[in-house]
Amino acid sequence: MNKVVFVCLGNICRSPMAEFIMKALDQDGSLHIESRATSSWEHGNPVHQGTQKILRKYAVSFDSSKGSQQISQSDFEFFDLIVGMDESNVEDLLQVSAGRYDDKIKLFRPGGVPDPWYTGDFEETYNLVTAACQDWLQWIRDRQ
Ligand code: 4NP
Repeated sequence: MNKVVFVCLGNICRSPMAEFIMKALDQDGSLHIESRATSSWEHGNPVHQGTQKILRKYAVSFDSSKGSQQISQSDFEFFDLIVGMDESNVEDLLQVSAGRYDDKIKLFRPGGVPDPWYTGDFEETYNLVTAACQDWLQWIRDRQ
């Protein structure tokens, strides 16, 4: 269980934040970590400036050339863990999975992560995402 994808609506705010925080926490690089969108709305667009700013503030390195990518059928097959950042992301993922990959689909944290696209509060998102990524890393390590 080492291939993890974080999924949010646009793949520009929350899921890339989780991707890069998780990569920073996974110091030995034992995990394959990516992020995706449930929608194609932001296709090809870069990580949101608010997410870039908060990652720089906390010295979390990120790929500034990353563009938003909608989750595909091959992603459902490839990844071991498909983590929706909120309940509606999980609902959308379960709908696309149509029973085939349901066991891989998880909610990132109880209550989900509020979307800073709407709240504007990237600091709150950063704190929630960091704490939950630490929990996920432990959860994965416990199963390896
Ligand atoms: P994200 O935030 O799902 O955390 O990347 C959003 C990004 C874009 C939109 C909504 C949420 N949008 O409406 O385009």
